[in-house]
Amino acid sequence: MSTSRACVTVSRLCSGLAAALLLAACSGERPAPADGAGSAETASGTNAVTVDPGNWPQPEWPFAADAALEKKVDDLLASMTLEEKVGQIIQGDIGSLTPDDVRKYRLGSILAGGGSDPGGKYNAKPAEWLALADAFWEASMDTSGGGKAIPVIWGIDAMHGQSNIVGATLFPHNIGLGATRNPELLREIARITAIETRTTGMEWTFAPTVAVPQDDRWGRAYEGYSESPELVASYAGVFVEGLQGKPGSDGFLDDHHVMSSVKHFLGDGGTSNGKDQGDTQVSEAQLRDIHAAGYVPAIAAGAQAVMASFNSFHGEKMHGHKPLMTDVLKERMSFGGFIVGDWNGHGQVRGCSNTDCAQTFIAGLDMAMAPDSWKELYETTLAHAKDGTLPMARLDDAVRRILRVKFRANLFEKPKPSARALGGKFELLGAPEHRAVARQAVRESLVLLKNQGGVLPLSPKTKLLVAGDGADNMSKQTGGWTLTWQGSDTLRGDFPNADTIWDGLKAQVAAAGGSAELAVDGKYRDKPDAAVVVFGEEPYAEFQGDLANLMFKSGRSGDLELIQKLKADGIPVVAVFLSGRPLWLNREINAADAFVAAWLPGSEGGGVADVLLQGADGKPQHDFKGKLSFSWPRRADQYANNVGQDNYDPQFAFGHGLTYADNGDLAALPEDPGIDPNADSGNTWFERGVATTGFTLRLVGADGTAMDIVHPAAKTADGSLEMSAINHEVQEGARLFAWTGGGTVQLLSNAPLELTRETNGDVPVVATLRVDALPADGKAALVAGCGEGCTGEVEIGQALAALPRGEWTRLAVPLKCLRAQGADTGRLDVPFALRAGAGTTLALTRVAASTDFDHKVDCATN
Ligand code: BGC
Ligand code: BGC
Repeated sequence: MSTSRACVTVSRLCSGLAAALLLAACSGERPAPADGAGSAETASGTNAVTVDPGNWPQPEWPFAADAALEKKVDDLLASMTLEEKVGQIIQGDIGSLTPDDVRKYRLGSILAGGGSDPGGKYNAKPAEWLALADAFWEASMDTSGGGKAIPVIWGIDAMHGQSNIVGATLFPHNIGLGATRNPELLREIARITAIETRTTGMEWTFAPTVAVPQDDRWGRAYEGYSESPELVASYAGVFVEGLQGKPGSDGFLDDHHVMSSVKHFLGDGGTSNGKDQGDTQVSEAQLRDIHAAGYVPAIAAGAQAVMASFNSFHGEKMHGHKPLMTDVLKERMSFGGFIVGDWNGHGQVRGCSNTDCAQTFIAGLDMAMAPDSWKELYETTLAHAKDGTLPMARLDDAVRRILRVKFRANLFEKPKPSARALGGKFELLGAPEHRAVARQAVRESLVLLKNQGGVLPLSPKTKLLVAGDGADNMSKQTGGWTLTWQGSDTLRGDFPNADTIWDGLKAQVAAAGGSAELAVDGKYRDKPDAAVVVFGEEPYAEFQGDLANLMFKSGRSGDLELIQKLKADGIPVVAVFLSGRPLWLNREINAADAFVAAWLPGSEGGGVADVLLQGADGKPQHDFKGKLSFSWPRRADQYANNVGQDNYDPQFAFGHGLTYADNGDLAALPEDPGIDPNADSGNTWFERGVATTGFTLRLVGADGTAMDIVHPAAKTADGSLEMSAINHEVQEGARLFAWTGGGTVQLLSNAPLELTRETNGDVPVVATLRVDALPADGKAALVAGCGEGCTGEVEIGQALAALPRGEWTRLAVPLKCLRAQGADTGRLDVPFALRAGAGTTLALTRVAASTDFDHKVDCATN
């Protein structure tokens, strides 16, 4: 804390200087690395660090005042009913609204979330997307009911190409683009993404992500270009220009371009412990110099939208943060576009729900992303506008900002999406010239970390084995936000314009007269001269990718054993690692002769062969160019060791990456991960009153209504269960729960927990708690499970009654007991739930699977 106070002082000192100087003078700071002590995640709710807009940079918004445009906006606004105004500021998702809804409610915008597709088919045809775009557009332009014709805008996560659409070119995810260090390539990628997006009718993408991830456990690390703000800033402006065109140029926002939304404002990459949607507890100077770095060039490039972030800044959710959204972004930083919300992000603002939140608009949000909640939010917002809770001036300002963008993009003059220049030109999806750029990006993103004895480049004229479960695996190589939200559950046939890494290697080896064999498990028919083993992380998006530590768990697929077996057979092994972040895997790096970090390369597996294989002349076809844009950890607990920090000590530094000219020998790396992979820490689900990374705390009322916890204080809608923060060991280190009815406190795991070993070994679930008052009816239960048919519960009323009242203690319930009662402990998604009756009051600070406890519930007595 003392550091952050000092930082604020530094930034104040700087505030007198010119903006450019200020940035340079203040950019030295970096957040301290996670100390493992786990900083208190939730905030007090008081805005501990105040924001002074005078400290912030002042990019120039590239649009001069335009009286003609303002007149158009004013005239239209003056003619609009209150209902039409409210419609403009609400965005619904195609999974929960129809063109007729748009016709009736006059919504200004729609989106397709990562899991929303025409007809609910993740692999819907491009023509189905376009037909839907036409239908929504027509509804918005239909004046037969007396409404004004205001074209709807459709936003989509075209995150690495038009990545929801079958056949689109899929570029490497941003972490790989970070490694290319090639801003002009980024401009080209953005230009192509815009073109492919236009073929299916959308005129708006939710990109680029300019997060500056500081803790690699974050499941969205790969959506960021780099841990370095300078590198992110060097891309943000060109990417926006590539998408939108240059302000003032002929092509700007024409039919070949799309509007961008720079996201997520602000501090998404800075949350404590890398927890998705968590709290960013950095100083104002760090927030500005690290996390806001990309917004400065993006605003100067004329970004039309900025997306508000799910995270909080010192306990204050960004969707309700007026100083940052209004005073800093719009006023100080001259952002003249509109702020769009994130997926029900407004619902997390204190005092709000998904369906009711005047606060977010008052704080400066201009368009709420209300995917499934749009109708109710529309109604409540209309009521707030009528009774003045939402001031008319603020509503008008939000509508003006949205209309200005629609006029700037000339949308009022445009025909329906299919009749625009690129509508229906599906031959552009995955067009050869687009794929060539993606392939170049793959080549330039590969980072070579080891090349023992110069084993690379491999000759294509020999016998090559290609192994590992990533070798011929489209979803592993394309990652999250690809056709489906998580990028999982797709089929190879859904990628018509794409090559796996195996496809690429096979084609070049065949052309050179060599022979290539694919054997995922390494069991070759014919002994090869060399092997390429492709392996890595399974696809994930958002919180589902949050990790407890940076250890790559190859246990399940046996990657290490695969490499070791091939080596034992005397075969040189090149390891190609697919991942959304650097992970600790020194045993695999040691075992292989060469190691290539390939990130999430996308549709062009051929780009890997281009660099790994020699040309006909025996020389490299393409050299390695990729340089690490994230520091590679020395240990599995080195989560947040970022370039520029005082104690910077990575295994492979930011900027590292070998070429063929370098000596690629690497001395054996230490194989101690620095953590005990089987230790308790991996099985701690709740600590110091907060769900740990990968877990969510949920309250379920007696009436069954659930609420996920985002603030330290909460109460279920039916009032049956109330939670508040209390001090224990540290400030707000525990939560106090008071029951007036039969509610449940639950901990949910993002990914099913495999606790078979623990169960067999008789490890219990241990709650560190303090019982203040017992249930009136004497009943309480500990529950664990994975839904119907695999949930078990153990009665603990008697056990609670036997505990010392008002004292902290550790109560254990054996996993064995829960399994005997029906819980499948091999796949728990609710590893802990505590149900109690009216009258119960108890505090909870920690929940873990652990062998340390004071009291144990005896199964036999239940
Ligand atoms: C993500 C955004 C995304 C939006 C729409 C949210 O959950 O945080 O990045 O643009 O969903 O899919
Ligand atoms: C949507 C995503 C969104 C997420 C938020 C999913 O169902 O498809 O786009 O980001 O929910 O939780």
